[in-house]
Amino acid sequence: MKVFEGPSLRGMNSLGLEASADLLIAIETEEDVIDLPRFNPEQDCILGGGSNIVFATDVPGTVYHNRILGKDIIEHNSEHAVVEVGAGENWHQLVVWSLDQGLSGLENLSLIPGQTGAAPIQNIGAYGVELSSVLHGVTAWDWQQSLWVYFEPGECALGYRDSLFKAMAADRYLITSIRLKLNRNFRPRLGYSGLREELSAMGVENVTAPAVSDAVIRLRRRKLPDPAMTGNAGSFFKNPVVGPGQADTLKSAHPDLPLWPLGDGRAKLSAAWMIELCGLKGLRLGDAAVSGQHALVLINLGSASGKEIVELAHKVQSTVADRFGIVLEPEPRLVEFDA
Ligand code: FAD
Ligand code: EPU
Repeated sequence: MKVFEGPSLRGMNSLGLEASADLLIAIETEEDVIDLPRFNPEQDCILGGGSNIVFATDVPGTVYHNRILGKDIIEHNSEHAVVEVGAGENWHQLVVWSLDQGLSGLENLSLIPGQTGAAPIQNIGAYGVELSSVLHGVTAWDWQQSLWVYFEPGECALGYRDSLFKAMAADRYLITSIRLKLNRNFRPRLGYSGLREELSAMGVENVTAPAVSDAVIRLRRRKLPDPAMTGNAGSFFKNPVVGPGQADTLKSAHPDLPLWPLGDGRAKLSAAWMIELCGLKGLRLGDAAVSGQHALVLINLGSASGKEIVELAHKVQSTVADRFGIVLEPEPRLVEFDA
């Protein structure tokens, strides 16, 4: 365990927001966890790679930064391998490693920033696949009871950008490792719009898991701003899910609105499309802006504060609500403590 006093968090969040903490504790092993002071939600915060977090204020207490490493195949047979991964491992490096092992299942989730331990928090998803399709278990420290807990996937309440850890039990658990069940036999999942076309453009005839990974990387690099160049937290809002009546009304009023039926009468709508139709793409408030590259991404053009990003998010929400009657729900975690 390493302890740092009064660190700046600017280099530790992908929006590049200036914030400080009283203390930062870098957790490097599971033994460290047992010796940690008890988490206080009134003043502390858990931080992974910082790619889905908005620091609207400083952190008056401690930032617990997960740096637990390790990747092991703990079970395998001719069809599957179960991999156990430390929460501090970089997610995309894990995807690359799994492909190198001849394992598939993570290829559609290539290039998602952040750490492996944060993947269950919002059940990360991209290009038609969610973590839930491969998650085998989650090991976590229960701050409330000071004991280790192991969750089966069915106990994690995984949904679209949602889980037990993000909603009902936010901040109760520190995830220290996860288990993934990966495939030895590749089954391509190419249903997401543009993926097949990208593979064709690459000249791929024999579709392999590494080829799908490459296609996803190419698509993502084209569509999304790179946080290393322009601060951002990926999609700032979830795509709204509406019931059948509202979906029909919106579709007849806006025939071009991208809408994905969920199979139970409900439909997911494109928040980016709605934001763009409202004329908000490129809107700037100080150094906070709606990306001109992708309307669902809020960016920091240099010295935006967390409060400015939040103010811009409110402007986007109220404009979309006035036009479509839908209140967009932010995706990243807002860190905002009372002074
Ligand atoms: P952080 O930002 O550090 O933390 C996020 C939340 O998880 C916080 O509430 C934090 O307290 C909590 N947390 C982190 N680690 C732990 C832990 N070990 N135990 C308990 N709680 C923890 N997401 C997608 O789903 N799909 C995408 O396609 C996608 N694309 C993105 C593209 C870009 C350019 C960016 C910047 C972000 C994107 N994201 C995407 C969002 C983000 O990458 C994911 O949510 C990622 O899982 C966050 O990981 P992190 O380690 O950075 O988490
Ligand atoms: N669109 C616009 N304007 C834009 C951008 C997109 O109108 O500026 C429309 C287009 O019609 C496009 C549609 O929105 O077809 C969907 O766009 P895209 O394929 O980029 O997907 P998204 O719905 O914006 C979601 C996830 C992303 C994930 C991609 C790929 C959410 C909130 N976002 O974005 O996840 O990478 O699909 O699966 O579900 C994240 O969570 O941070 C994230 C980046």
